[in-house]
Parts: sequence; structure tokens; C-alpha cells
Amino acid sequence: MSGGLAGDALAGLWQSPPSLPARWFYDERGSRLFDEITRLPEYYPTRRETEILRAHADEIAGRCVAETVVELGAGMSTKTRILLDACTALRPTLHFVPVDVSGVVLAEAAAAIARDYPETTVEPVVADFAEPRPLPGRPGGRLVLFLGGTIGNFDDAQRGAFLGRLRAALAPGDHFLLGADLVKAPSRLLAAYDDSVGVTAEFNRNLIEVLRATLDAEGLYVDDFEHAVRWNADQHRIEMWLRARRDVTARFRALGRDWKLPAGDGVLTEISVKFHLPDLHTELATAGFTPVDAWADPAGDFSVTLARAN
Ligand code: AVJ
Repeated sequence: MSGGLAGDALAGLWQSPPSLPARWFYDERGSRLFDEITRLPEYYPTRRETEILRAHADEIAGRCVAETVVELGAGMSTKTRILLDACTALRPTLHFVPVDVSGVVLAEAAAAIARDYPETTVEPVVADFAEPRPLPGRPGGRLVLFLGGTIGNFDDAQRGAFLGRLRAALAPGDHFLLGADLVKAPSRLLAAYDDSVGVTAEFNRNLIEVLRATLDAEGLYVDDFEHAVRWNADQHRIEMWLRARRDVTARFRALGRDWKLPAGDGVLTEISVKFHLPDLHTELATAGFTPVDAWADPAGDFSVTLARAN
């Protein structure tokens, strides 16, 4: 795990602009802060997606009758329960495989699911879902969930590669359920990533503490960084930055390297791409998936697409 962060830090922090993959937010504190984010009034995606799943879970379950449900980036698996309820109503013995980078949160969530779904076998997997891996389950009997809009963390090239790898790990007849946030007024997008109580700011700044602790950094202080959010209209994505409040000079002992960031400069810590649904469906088709059905909430804020592997 720290080996992974060391590699990503070496590859990202000395670039211009410096950047880090969003997965490193999710240490135990980061995972809990994210859970708080999902309940913020400004952060609509979780509520909208939950609405969509509540309205259409039976339909989704009926279309795939899954034996194995794999959830990528599972986190607390709260929304997943809506789908598990619908799936187990059709087929009581289910195999559930939550995959997440945060082992602590995953273990808790897996234990809670195992307790509440006695006929479901739960197999938690601590892994980065962006990395290729063989998927458990009978070919044709799998349903892969990728919810919450996490697909937005990939840029165009990463997204294409991810969808291609996922398709390669699946067999014809397997299903993929994808939650994706939609393009909307920048004011609402900006508010969703810069909430009035500052939870998102804390979530972002926690990354400095993750870096400091994991890479044994000297001269790296959370208070030297502020949360900054930008709507990149050209690439239709939200960008979260950590901007230096003063000149930062840090020594990463674990890397044997010094790092400098001048006051006012930033580290790009997350992108959250927002989609036009037809474009996303074209990307799915290019990767070898046929969109079977798609739903949005009545406000048109968020989307859920069910696709079948060709
Ligand atoms: C977990 C990637 C879907 O992009 O909306 C929320 C992460 N970052 N607030 C998102 C996030 C700041 C979230 N995803």
C-alpha cells in the first residue's frame, strides 16, 4: 500500500502541475469524511443515485438475475443494500464481492452485510479496482456495480483503459451497472465540492496527512494547504486542488527526496468528470458493452446505466 503511494508520489509530485491519484484520500479518516460528504446538503450525487436505485432496483435485478454481485469501490455499501434486497428477492443465495482500497471500512461493511443477509456469502477484497484482476463467479452470472460516480475520477484515457479491462475480465452476458454524474450548472457543481461546513476541504487536506505519515515527510503541514475547487468547462470536470498558502519545502524521507511548492501553486488531487449520457453510452459500446437501460432522477442530476457485456 505505501509502496503504491511512494510510486504515485514519485510519478506525480514532481510533475507540473503536481498531482496524485484520488485513491489515496481513503485512509480510515478519509473514508469517514467521505461518508460525511455523502450526507451534506450540497452533495446531491448520493441522494440522487439512491432515488434512482430505489425506483428501479426491481427492474435492474429482473434484467440480470445475478448470482455474483461484485461492487467496485464499495466503501460502506449503503446504497448497495437496495440492490441486494432486489437481487435476493429473486435469488436468495447470492455471492457478494465488495472491492475497496480501504481495508478497515471494507471489513466493517462486509461484516454488516453478512449479518443482515444470512443467505448471502460475502467475500471482501482489498484492492484498487483500477488494476486488472480476474473476477469471481460463473461467466454470464455476474453483475458488476460501479456506483457513486467514481468513474468520474478517471480522465478520458484512464476511463477507456478501465472499461476495456473490465470488459476483458467479464464474459458475454455479464452485466455492468454504472452510476455517473451528469453535466449541470457550474454553481451547483462547485457547491457540491466546496460545502459550507468545510467537510470536503478537510477530506482534501487529509491527503497531506496521509502523505506525511506514509512517506515519513518532514516540513509538510496540513495547515500550509487550502482546498481549492475549479470547474474545468473544456474537459467538463470538477478539479480539486490543494493550494500552498506559503512556500512549502518538504523532505520525503521514505523517498529520499526534497519537494518544493511555491506559495499559490497547487497539487491536483482529484478530477470528477461529469457526463452527457449519450457520450458515456458510446464509450461503453466502444469497450464492448451494450447499454440495456438507463435511468436518471426526475431533476436529471445523476444517471444509472445497466449494460451487458457483448
Ligand atoms: C467518490 C469519486 C464519486 O467525485 O463526487 C466527493 C469523491 N470528492 N467530494 C466525487 C468526492 C469530493 C466523489 N467520488
